[in-house]
Formats: sequence, structure tokens, C-alpha cells
Amino acid sequence: MTEKITPKREKLLANIRIQRFTPTFDRSPYFDNFKVDVETGMTVLEVLRQIKNTQDSSLTFRAFCRSAICGSCTVRVNGNSVLACSTQLMPIIKDFGKGTVTIKPMANLPVIRDLVVDIDPIIEKLAKMHPYLMENRQRIPETLEQESLMSQEELEAFNSLTDCILCGACFSACSSVKADKNYAGPLTIAKAYRFSIDPRDNFRCVRIQASMDQGLWSCVQCRKCIKVCPKDIRPADAIRNMRRIAIDDGIHDTAGSRRAKAYTDDVEKFGQVNKPMLPVIVNGTKGWTAIEAAEAYLESKGIEPTRQVCTLPGQDSAAKIYAEVRKIETQDKEKKDCD
Ligand code: SF4
Ligand code: SF4
Ligand code: FES
Repeated sequence: MTEKITPKREKLLANIRIQRFTPTFDRSPYFDNFKVDVETGMTVLEVLRQIKNTQDSSLTFRAFCRSAICGSCTVRVNGNSVLACSTQLMPIIKDFGKGTVTIKPMANLPVIRDLVVDIDPIIEKLAKMHPYLMENRQRIPETLEQESLMSQEELEAFNSLTDCILCGACFSACSSVKADKNYAGPLTIAKAYRFSIDPRDNFRCVRIQASMDQGLWSCVQCRKCIKVCPKDIRPADAIRNMRRIAIDDGIHDTAGSRRAKAYTDDVEKFGQVNKPMLPVIVNGTKGWTAIEAAEAYLESKGIEPTRQVCTLPGQDSAAKIYAEVRKIETQDKEKKDCD
């Protein structure tokens, strides 16, 4: 007879610190503290519901499905953007090693009340990306009598991206969204990329342009969006791939693409980035002003500036890797052209 293993149930009295704010009433956000007996398995959402039902009915938050599907319950717990309905509190209390947990609304969006934010800015940015199929008549038949088929390989290129539930956790975690209000954000570019590589679609160039207009090169590839995504969408990878297809489609003349090209060319040539010359490569002649100002500053501190970059030992091995990658890329391209 197999022994039944019962998971150990624990109970902890925790202090739940929640940001409160009603913009039409309060001058600025403040925090309220609630004592809650947190049990093993309790989710953040269950704790919020318990507080609302037993301690303060005015506490406002958003949630519908309770199954990590609708994407409506995202909040920040101890600074991390999470789905309240699928995040258990006990492991967080243990990880942080203290009995107080802080819950705040998503970042980078206006607060409507307490933990509820206005997601219209995300929707407006998303709408500009045309997040729907614009039919490619060579792949989608005119009538419904025939199916619009695609290969397994074509499907796999974007299949995981279709799992996005628009929860906004990546948008909330993104420091580039905070720094650049025009930046579309991770989920919107991931969505644009998903449709741009769908073989049934015919709007790729419009979406690439829409991404460029909304700061495609503003992403710093910190990969926070990958860390917080509850559906393993990997938006930072989609952004990198969107840049790649933009360059493949001949859009080379942007500060971001020039910077990316300078990085790769320099590492191949010197084994390191030629930082002294980067402003000129990225910004053209305007970059000289920055270089000259930096050199004048260094000289005023008694430091001799240099525009030389030395070649690092082992650079030839880096160059061999480049040659190998180019070979693979050429083979892939030839294979695609044949298909
Ligand atoms: S990788 Fe880019 S999109 Fe993702 S969080 Fe960082 S800056 Fe934002
Ligand atoms: S990419 Fe992930 S984190 Fe971002 S909205 Fe979609 S599911 Fe949420
Ligand atoms: S309530 Fe729907 S995702 Fe959490």
C-alpha cells in the first residue's frame, strides 16, 4: 500500500501593506496595513478578497477568472509584477524573510482606484500595431471551401506568442516604458511580431513601421519582461526578432540599427566595442560634438583621451564564430528561398 503524503500546512500572521489611492479624493497614494492569517496555498487574490470581505469593503482590485486566463488581476507584490490569482503568498513571505508584504498597483499606468489601473494606454499602443491578420491572398483562399494551411515549422515560429493573455505584467516591469512614454512596450511589439511572421498575413511592413514609430529600438534587452511573464511569452526575444526582420526588410537607417551593427562589427574586428567612436556611428556628425565634449572633460581632469581601440587577445576566435554564424544564416536563407 502506498503511503499518502499530505503536504505540510502552515499558518503565519502576516502584515499586508496595500497602496491606497483615489485620484479624485486623495492628494497622493498612501498605505494601509492589514493583519491576515496566511495559510499554505493561499493566493494573493484570496488574501485581497479576505481583506475586502472581513476588514475593509472599500478596498478595490480587479479580478475575474481566478484561473490565470483573463489577465485582469495583475498587481505588484514586493515590487514584482504578478497575477494575483496564481501567485501564492507563503513562498513570498519566506523568500523575503519578513512578515510584511507590500502590494501595489501595476507600474507605468494611471491608477483609477487602489489596485485598479487604467489599461487604455496599452490598448491604444496595441491598436497602432494592427494586432489581427490582414489576409495574404496567396495563402488564404477567397472562399471557405478550401483551408488556409500552414506547415508545422511556420506555426511553431509564433505559436507560443499566441498564449499572451494581455495581463500587462511585462509592461509594468519595463523600465524603458517608464523612461520613454512613446515606447510601445513588450507585449505590443511581441503581438506585432506574432502577426508579422504569420504566413497568412500581408501587413508586415506596416507593423514594422508602427513598431519603429513606437520605439522598437528603445528596448534595452534587460529581459525583465521575460522574468515576469506568467505565460512564458519571452517578449524580449520577440523584440529582438522584430528588429531582425526590420533589418532583413531593408530598414537599416535608424540610430538603433546603426548601434546594433556597430556592436557586431566591432566585436568581430576588435573583440570589443569601439566605444570612443560609437556616438559618431550612431548619430552621424552630431556625434562629434559629444566626443569632443567628453575629451575636453577628460583633459580637464588630467586624463589623456584616446580614440584608439585595441584588439583583444582571442579576437580571431570571435571572428571564426561570426564566420560560422554567417554560413548557417546563408544556408537557412537558401533553404527558405527554395521552399
Ligand atoms: S527587455 Fe526590453 S521590453 Fe523587456 S523589460 Fe527590458 S526594456 Fe522592457
Ligand atoms: S507577454 Fe506575458 S506578461 Fe506580457 S501581457 Fe502577455 S502574458 Fe502578460
Ligand atoms: S483573475 Fe483572471 S488572470 Fe487572474
